[in-house]
Amino acid sequence: MATVKLEQVTKIYPNGTKAVDGLNLEVGEGELMVLVGPSGCGKTTALRMVAGLEDISDGSLYIGQKRVNDMSPKDRDIAMVFQSYALYPHMTVAENIGFALKLRKTPKAEASAKIDQAAKILGLSEVLDRKPGQLSGGQRQRVAMGRAIVREPSVFLMDEPLSNLDAKLRVQMRAEVSKVQRTLGVATLYVTHDQVEAMTMGDRVAVLRGGVLQQCDTPQTLYDRPANVFVAGFIGSPAMNLWRGVLEGASTGAATVDLGSCRLDVGDAAMAAHPELSRFEGAEVIVGIRPEHLSVAPPSSDGGGELRGRVELVEALGSELMVHFSTDARHVKAEDAADDPAMRTGEVATAGISVARVGPRVDVKPGDPIAFEVESDMMHFFDPATGGAIRQ
Ligand SMILES: Nc1ncnc2c1ncn2[C@@H]1O[C@H](COP(=O)(O)OP(=O)(O)OP(=O)(O)O)[C@@H](O)[C@H]1O
Ligand SMILES: [Mg+2]
Repeated sequence: MATVKLEQVTKIYPNGTKAVDGLNLEVGEGELMVLVGPSGCGKTTALRMVAGLEDISDGSLYIGQKRVNDMSPKDRDIAMVFQSYALYPHMTVAENIGFALKLRKTPKAEASAKIDQAAKILGLSEVLDRKPGQLSGGQRQRVAMGRAIVREPSVFLMDEPLSNLDAKLRVQMRAEVSKVQRTLGVATLYVTHDQVEAMTMGDRVAVLRGGVLQQCDTPQTLYDRPANVFVAGFIGSPAMNLWRGVLEGASTGAATVDLGSCRLDVGDAAMAAHPELSRFEGAEVIVGIRPEHLSVAPPSSDGGGELRGRVELVEALGSELMVHFSTDARHVKAEDAADDPAMRTGEVATAGISVARVGPRVDVKPGDPIAFEVESDMMHFFDPATGGAIRQ
């Protein structure tokens, strides 16, 4: 058993690309830590540095108590599972799983016991004599996991191991990989660009953007208390609605926020939860509301305290409706907001479509005017200058 600790780990490629920038991360004993972020944000680079396949430009990497920056990959006691797992086509499942043991000259009886045990954990006992060509995609992926398991490493590294599988199988394998990981209790660093995968699998999730760690916490905390606009927009599907608004009345105890021509109440509870908001009196803030926290207002209401717009598109999913609507509020794209300086200073704000997630029996169609009530303690507030969450 071991832990993995990255301290200010930085990777600058010879061409000058800074792929990972001062990354601090600790994977606890037995923990499944997911590293998530958009394409090119440095996930694979970070993982390869832990594996020893890529030099560390700056900072320290510890496995257990040992600083391993200069230790060769084979001495690091890790096993890696990649997206493209090349199984040996001419070998049986058992031979594929046991290949590393054979290289290590593990005695036959011992190797065979380990293979059997791994096969049992992975549900492969019935197919040990088959060749990879006679397996389903999910079974092949499990064989790849089996090869890592029999090595009994102190750390697992996985780089998008499920991305070659079809959607249904991927969902099933997520649960299986988590279960196997828990059974073995081995510290695991798991890379994916899929935030749903990250949320469903991770004990904790580290969100990376442009080589920089944005937030590392439990899935629920990332969802409830995103540290900045980027995390707010990245975690959750459909994404959080983000608008620019102006805060008024914070000093009078009846705070409101203007989103375009709509004025929403910021309740006492919300003010109390974000005391720092009073600094933004009369100023712009970024307001975030998740689609599930918008509820269609009854038609009799007088229009005050609501978010009004026009229905553009209704997606009926059976269990719920996704109502896409336009408003005159100014949209913020989380993708842009986090690192575009122009966005930070508020020069760019585009019209956009907002989304509400409502019950399946709500009667709406494209072109209809629509109004939403907003639970004010479900509002998120961000500083437009930094993109950071406004809290204390
Ligand atoms: N060998 C290399 N030399 C120079 N730049 C590289 C090299 N490998 C990767 N990069 C760059 O480093 C950055 C991070 O790449 P990396 O592969 O770590 O991203 P990633 O998060 O794994 O992306 P993806 O989700 O697409 O797999 C990218 O800008 C990439 O172009
Ligand atoms: Mg990658």
